Amino acid sequence: MKRKLVIIVFLCLVVVVQVLAQKNCGTKDFVESTFEEMSDQKGIIEKGNSALALKLKLALLPPVINIPVWVHVLYHPDSAAQKISEQLIQEQIDELNRDFNKQNADIGQVPLPFRKLEADCGIHFKLAHAPDYVKTQKRVFMLKPNDGSDTYNRSEESIKFKDCGGADGVADTRYLNIWIGNITDGKPLQLLGYGTYPGHQDAFDGVVIYYKAIGPNADKSAWNRGRTLTHEVGHWLNLRHLWGDSECGDDGIFDTPRQAGPNQGSPKFSHFTCPGQAYGDLFMDYMDQVDDSAMLMFTDGQRDWMRSNFIESGGRSSFLLQSAFNLASALAGRNDQHTPVVTNLHDAQSSAQGDFAGKKITWTAVKAATQYKVLINLLGSSRQKESISKTATVKLNHLKPGSLYQISIQTVTVDGKLSSPSTPYLFQATKQ
Ligand code: ARG
Ligand code: ZN
Ligand code: CA
Repeated sequence: MKRKLVIIVFLCLVVVVQVLAQKNCGTKDFVESTFEEMSDQKGIIEKGNSALALKLKLALLPPVINIPVWVHVLYHPDSAAQKISEQLIQEQIDELNRDFNKQNADIGQVPLPFRKLEADCGIHFKLAHAPDYVKTQKRVFMLKPNDGSDTYNRSEESIKFKDCGGADGVADTRYLNIWIGNITDGKPLQLLGYGTYPGHQDAFDGVVIYYKAIGPNADKSAWNRGRTLTHEVGHWLNLRHLWGDSECGDDGIFDTPRQAGPNQGSPKFSHFTCPGQAYGDLFMDYMDQVDDSAMLMFTDGQRDWMRSNFIESGGRSSFLLQSAFNLASALAGRNDQHTPVVTNLHDAQSSAQGDFAGKKITWTAVKAATQYKVLINLLGSSRQKESISKTATVKLNHLKPGSLYQISIQTVTVDGKLSSPSTPYLFQATKQ
């Protein structure tokens, strides 16, 4: 009993010390392990979700996930350049959106063998608030490297704390915090940015970008297209570097080949660096280290990995649960008075793994209906089948045994108008 009490008191002390450390700006009392650069948090993919359950959960996410962004600009009064304009910040967010949604103007430069991997990630970022301009007396925010190692000492992240000359982050469960400032890690190569993985301590959660790497801008630098933010937001959504931060290491993503290490500059052709590569390094991926003008894409595997943060229990699920905007877009389409409700698929929907045993689907009869339009698609393909039913039921034929399908129903009303589609239901065709 006594021993238990001692342990509890000790734990309380640890908490107090941590809180104090945060206030005392940059003291070394932090528990270092919490701030390791490489979080070992695996994607939700490996966290108790079977491949099938995960597929279903990913399919249920809204097609576009909206992330509110809060930007903190730290500037020294002597440097006009550090006080970057609101317009440039908006252009940077626009570029981030193009990059994440496969709308970047340079996507056509992806070499042929890698094109089939290009992904539209369906993640959209929006400034939630005008950028916060925070005057600071710090000319540089120094991130001291740990002795002899490559990792940053998180206790030196003064840019994230008001008491230390920086700016406090805002509600990290609801906003992606972006700090922009004159950062350095003391090494000769300019540090362009860094980001936290999900699961990081709240007050530190977000990404930090060197002010000259905000773009696209007119500078002739290798980082003039705003891709640093794209790369760091990739980390914030739990992506690792392609090489898994070790030689021919594993980034956990099935469709990114292993590669020996970072690529640099602006490669035109790939090269083979690890066993098992089909076409060589994926050097044009945002999670490599090439120049901004050479990074062009995320892969489907990276998209799913990033989106898996938003399913329940995922590292960024608070963004879907709390954002009225996302809720509204998920509910849109279900609020029409003529929208049918599918009635015999509840089991299949709630237990993601349940086989769909019957082959008949029924829904609530809608008074104003003349007929119903039935939309079925095979998950993972672009194949969509439309059919018309005169009654509130449909018999499904020719399903591929064991395959996953999504079905949605629309009412066709007397005046020929279509209702909004019903909630999409997912089911698995019976295995044979
Ligand atoms: N070195 C930083 C990181 O690994 C950022 C690299 C960004 N590269 C670029 N071309 N902007 O997080
Ligand atoms: Zn990185
Ligand atoms: Ca991989």
